Amino acid sequence: MIKIIQGDITTLAVDAIVNAANQVMLGGGGVDGAIHRVAGRELYEACLKVPEVRPGVRCPTGEARITPGFKLPAKYVIHTVGPVYRDGQHGEPEKLAACYRNSLALAAENGCKSIAFPCISTGIYGYPIEEAAKIAVREVGEFLAAKNASDAEWEGACPHAPNGRARTPAAPQDRGAVAPRPPEMEVVFCCFSERDAKVYRQLML
Ligand code: APR
Repeated sequence: MIKIIQGDITTLAVDAIVNAANQVMLGGGGVDGAIHRVAGRELYEACLKVPEVRPGVRCPTGEARITPGFKLPAKYVIHTVGPVYRDGQHGEPEKLAACYRNSLALAAENGCKSIAFPCISTGIYGYPIEEAAKIAVREVGEFLAAKNASDAEWEGACPHAPNGRARTPAAPQDRGAVAPRPPEMEVVFCCFSERDAKVYRQLML
């Protein structure tokens, strides 16, 4: 399910909030600064422990890393690094799409049932909101469709037998004992400005 809100992502009590970080991943301005301010010093220390993949780079552009949320109401922070926008002809769309895909995958791997995104790359990194929002809505829509399809398959293929052990494929006598389908992940686009929220709402019409 997708929701669009206007507000401050640091206030959201979701399983994971996504941080628009930089590759060093030790804080910064914008939403990065806000998240670190609310999470507290422990977040900085947790980021410091994230291994560098090369000197000065903990999270390459397009990738994602997860830490606890500490003093935030969210359980986790998923740090991702969006592209700096030049002209849209230097791989920026692909990198931005990867931010959403990798953040969603990491959230799913960590059992998150809800995740909130800021408008990645549209502040200091200069990505035009209209283009960035199109990419965000497309990637999230594709992820949820694929996840729903696999959850449905999972539900039909391996119901829990009365003795609780999963069994595939469903034996006739187990047909009725289908395990409850995992709830669909809720994805929130948390826009800091009403203007940005309007852009997302237009796309979702
Ligand atoms: N809640 C939700 N959204 C916010 C918040 C907040 N508290 N604060 C800022 N934003 C919005 C901005 O208005 C913008 O729409 O987050 C979006 C992303 O803007 P930036 O935070 O500037 O991030 P980005 O453009 O991806 O640039 C990343 O900025 O803060 C530094 O360390 C960061 O170097 C990195 C760069």
